[in-house]
Amino acid sequence: MIEGWTRTARWLHWGTALAVLVEVPAGFAMAWTYLDGVRGGPLAGLHLRASQVHHTLGLLLLASVIVRLWWRWRHPAPALPAQTSRSGALAARGVQALLYGLLLLLPLTGWAALSALGAGAGYSAPQMWFFGHDGFGPGGLIPHIVTPRPWDAPGIVGYGLFAKAHVYMVWAGGVLLVLHIGGALKHHVIDRDGVLKRMLGRD
Ligand code: HEM
Ligand code: HEM
Repeated sequence: MIEGWTRTARWLHWGTALAVLVEVPAGFAMAWTYLDGVRGGPLAGLHLRASQVHHTLGLLLLASVIVRLWWRWRHPAPALPAQTSRSGALAARGVQALLYGLLLLLPLTGWAALSALGAGAGYSAPQMWFFGHDGFGPGGLIPHIVTPRPWDAPGIVGYGLFAKAHVYMVWAGGVLLVLHIGGALKHHVIDRDGVLKRMLGRD
C-alpha cells in the first residue's frame, strides 16, 4: 500500500475542485450576458448574480489557495508509487505546480481588472459587490490593487490587459486540467496503483 494524503489535504483538494466547477460557469455566464447587463436587457438579472458569485467566490478561492500553499509547504506530498517513471513524476508535479500558479494568478488578474476599471471611482457597478457590499466603493471591503482610471484612458495597463490575461489563463487552466484529470485516470485505469484512490481517501 502507498502512503496517503491527510484528510485536510483531501478536503482542500476537492473543495477547490468544487469551487472551480462553480466559478468557471459563473465567469462565462457573466461574460456572455455582459451587454444585457449594461443595457438592462432580459438577462441583466443573471449577469448581476453571476458577477456577484464570480467575484465573491473567486476571492474566496484566492484566500483558500494561500492557506493551502502555506499548509502544503509544511506538509510535503506523499511520494508517488515506486514504479512511476521519472518523466511521469516530473510531468505530474509540473502540472500541479502550474495549477497552483493559476489558482493564484486567476483571481489576482480578475481583481486587478476590476480595480483598474475603477468600480467605486465614479462608476455605478453593483456587479462588483462582494458579500453584498460594494467591493471597491467608499466603505467597500476590497482595496484597489491597481490605480483606477477610465477604461478608455491611453496606455496599456488597464482593464483590457488584465482581463485579457485572465481569459488566456482560463484556457491554459482548461488544458492543464485535461492533463491533470487524464493523468489521474491513467493511474487508476492503466497503472492501477492507488494514486486516485489515495486522493479520494480510500485505500
Ligand atoms: C480561480 C478563480 C477564477 C476563475 C477560474 C475564473 C474564471 C473566469 C472565466 C471562465 C471567465 C469567462 C472568460 C471568458 O469570457 O472567455 C472569467 C471572466 C472574468 N473574471 Fe474570472 N475567474 C476567477 C477569479 C476571478 C476574480 C477573483 C475576479 C474579480 C474579483 C474575476 C473577474 C473576472 C472578470 C472581470 C471577467 C471578465 C473578463 C472579460 O471577459 O473581459 N475572476 N473568469
Ligand atoms: C479544478 C480542479 C482541480 C484542481 C485545481 C486540482 C489541483 C491539484 C493540485 C494542485 C494537486 C497537487 C496537490 C499537492 O501536491 O499539494 C492535485 C493533486 C491531485 N489531483 Fe487534482 N485538481 C483538480 C481536480 C482533480 C480531479 C477532477 C481529479 C480526478 C479525476 C484530480 C485528481 C488528483 C489526484 C489523484 C491528485 C494526487 C496526486 C498524487 O497523489 O500525487 N484532481 N490536484
